[in-house]
Amino acid sequence: MNTGRISTVLRNGKAGDAVTIAGWVRTRRDAKTFSFVEVNDGSCVASLQVIADQSLPNYQADIVKLTTGSAVACRGVLAVSPGKGQALELRAASFTVFSMAPSDFPLQKKRHSFEYLREIGHLRPRTNSIAAVARLRNSMSFAAHTFFQERGFAYVHTPIIGTSDCEGAGEMFRVTTLPPDNPPRDENGGVDFTKDFFGKKASLTVSGQLEAEIYALSLSRAYTFGPTFRAEDSNTPRHLAEFWMIEPEAAFFDLDDDMALAEEFVKYLVRHALDKNQDDLAFFNERIDTSLLATLSAIAESEFARVSYTDAITILEKANESFDFKVAWGSDLQTEHERYLAETTFGKPVIVHDYPKQIKAFYMKQNDDGKTVRAMDVLVPRIGELIGGSEREDRFDVLRARIAELGLSEKDYWWYLDLRKYGSAPHAGFGLGFERLMLLVTGLQNIREVIPFPRWPGNAEF
Ligand code: 4AD
Ligand code: MG
Repeated sequence: MNTGRISTVLRNGKAGDAVTIAGWVRTRRDAKTFSFVEVNDGSCVASLQVIADQSLPNYQADIVKLTTGSAVACRGVLAVSPGKGQALELRAASFTVFSMAPSDFPLQKKRHSFEYLREIGHLRPRTNSIAAVARLRNSMSFAAHTFFQERGFAYVHTPIIGTSDCEGAGEMFRVTTLPPDNPPRDENGGVDFTKDFFGKKASLTVSGQLEAEIYALSLSRAYTFGPTFRAEDSNTPRHLAEFWMIEPEAAFFDLDDDMALAEEFVKYLVRHALDKNQDDLAFFNERIDTSLLATLSAIAESEFARVSYTDAITILEKANESFDFKVAWGSDLQTEHERYLAETTFGKPVIVHDYPKQIKAFYMKQNDDGKTVRAMDVLVPRIGELIGGSEREDRFDVLRARIAELGLSEKDYWWYLDLRKYGSAPHAGFGLGFERLMLLVTGLQNIREVIPFPRWPGNAEF
């Protein structure tokens, strides 16, 4: 079937053009001698108004019975629409009904709560808001690749299954083929993972960083963009158990280079959304957050603030604000602190750098003060942490000592240590949480709305 996309028809069509479109019925209204049928094919927010005249052979049999959610195709001629709300309409010469949705179709023409929509993950992309998220997600993925491709970063496919814990936080999903009821036992009665599929304990990755470092230390610039998994018991609007991360890694980069790249990347993505996704952003600005366009334009033009963790703590301590979590040097910043810095103190994205080493991962480069590491987080208004990154520890002895100090097993990281033995070089990188970015560009409040099939504790439906 040679059908046109409704987005193309609405953008380029002229009165008199013959077109065929296909999609799903949003609404039907009957006039005396014809029906108005709104058809949406997901190519854009707007639906196309189709005029189905009573002279159509299947008018009585099908068209006047059309329900919301039914699948149809219409062939006809475009005409200037006398009605309000659309410039063009389609006068149908033929009207095919593929299937009629029963009246219990869960998406009737009214506003549904996002919580309700999560329960119908198989149907929710047929709503304007979740379809707009999907289009924007697609556009942001493409932009992320373009950004790194234009700057000489090679896309590396890092593994999903691994045997080392990048973040050292122990929040990993085990991957095993051992029988859960009766696993093989070692001499101490523990599960004998040497008998498991990979011959040792394996898990879903929490980050592609360590493997991206391997390629940065050979291709100079690499990035990975893939799913990552965290078995943390976080029921928040900002955490998922499965999320996507974009992780660039560059040799001969220091922390300043890393921060500059992160700032350029975020602005590039926001500008891309403003330029290429105007209709979807206008929709979110109207329905979800009326300050969205202003916020995004400001981010695209702004110079991100930079502040050391130590100075950020001083700012927060002096702030006349009753935080739920105590502010103290050495504790991690909570979302409320991050948002305060980005929204109130600076009023724009801010990069906090040089964090205490005890709250950061083992691989970060230690400063000479013995207390802090060359880490940075990019914090944005409304969300808090969007990016986490660092310069990596490139000194063999220092890294080895840190692994021992944290009680990690040197055996698990032998190849990572090898990179510091053979041709070690300064290098740095970061990870941008793709769904946090989606929260930023849509104005939506909950991360479960911006990934097609969200996973969180207790939920892996669809
Ligand atoms: O700060 P994180 O844990 O950093 C890393 O994983 C590093 N290995 C990245 C690197 O340097 N290559 O995670 C990076 C980003 C966070 O800033 C946040 O945006 C997002 O990933 N993130 C999550 N997003 C959704 N749900 C979760 N549970 C997330 N945990 C982290
Ligand atoms: Mg982090």
